[in-house]
Amino acid sequence: MPSESSLPYRDFLYPLNVLTHVILREEGAVPYLHYGLFDDAHPTLLEAQERSTAVLFDHLPAPPARLLDVGIGLCTTLDRLRRDGYAITGITPDVLQIAFARARFGNDLPVLAVRFEDLDPAVIGPLDVIFFQESSQYIPHQALFSRAGALLPLGGLLLITDEFATRPLHGVGALHQRASLLATARHHGFELTGEQDYSADAAPTIDYFLERLPRYRHSIVAELHLTDRHVDELIASGRGYRALYHDGTYVYRLLQFRRVVLES
Ligand SMILES: C[S@@+](CC[C@H](N)C(=O)[O-])C[C@H]1O[C@@H](n2cnc3c(N)ncnc32)[C@H](O)[C@@H]1O
Repeated sequence: MPSESSLPYRDFLYPLNVLTHVILREEGAVPYLHYGLFDDAHPTLLEAQERSTAVLFDHLPAPPARLLDVGIGLCTTLDRLRRDGYAITGITPDVLQIAFARARFGNDLPVLAVRFEDLDPAVIGPLDVIFFQESSQYIPHQALFSRAGALLPLGGLLLITDEFATRPLHGVGALHQRASLLATARHHGFELTGEQDYSADAAPTIDYFLERLPRYRHSIVAELHLTDRHVDELIASGRGYRALYHDGTYVYRLLQFRRVVLES
């Protein structure tokens, strides 16, 4: 059991610190902060998360393509791709994630502490692919596609795995709407070239946390220096998500775009 002083993720932005804690305590390892895609061949969270990464990898060109990983999380994806021979750079605004990743994978990790919206094309150099593994929901669509347009050449590939709303929702924390994301993409010269739905396979991840949050309540509060209110909020949010997945309001998709010539 790690001691409190060995919790380098304690100050990750809430709720990523809580999710990291629960997965680590439950599974004994925490490679990712994304949903699992559960099926008969991938019945555990770690297997289901690996399947999600494999789905993303299936859409990449062969190495040594030049990749940008937006929102590195715990950096497992970036480390894999680097070892596979890709020329990859990762970004995150969270310097604690970078420290965590460097402690795990070495000080020579090609990662930068910057928001995607602020990324300077001159700093990053030429790219073939930009991917957002559950990071697109943190970035306003206009900023996402205008910056991607400045970073990718014509023909460049943009991949997103994430969850979206299928109708307008205005509550605090509501997910981005898929239709408005697609309209913004078109406006910035990004053509949708592929879309796969994984909603049914992703949804059990919500139950995974709903079952475990009450069980880990005490250690979340004591070791992450949070309150019962934080745990209650996550449970309430999880119940809301479960209902919204159930009625099709929330969906989990892989979206693939190509940068094309802008229509006048
Ligand atoms: C849910 S985590 C996913 C992490 C990782 N991609 C994975 O699949 O495990 C979201 C990631 O997006 C990052 N993020 C949040 N806002 C961002 C922004 N504006 N630009 C770049 N990354 C951002 C977070 O710091 C975090 O690394």
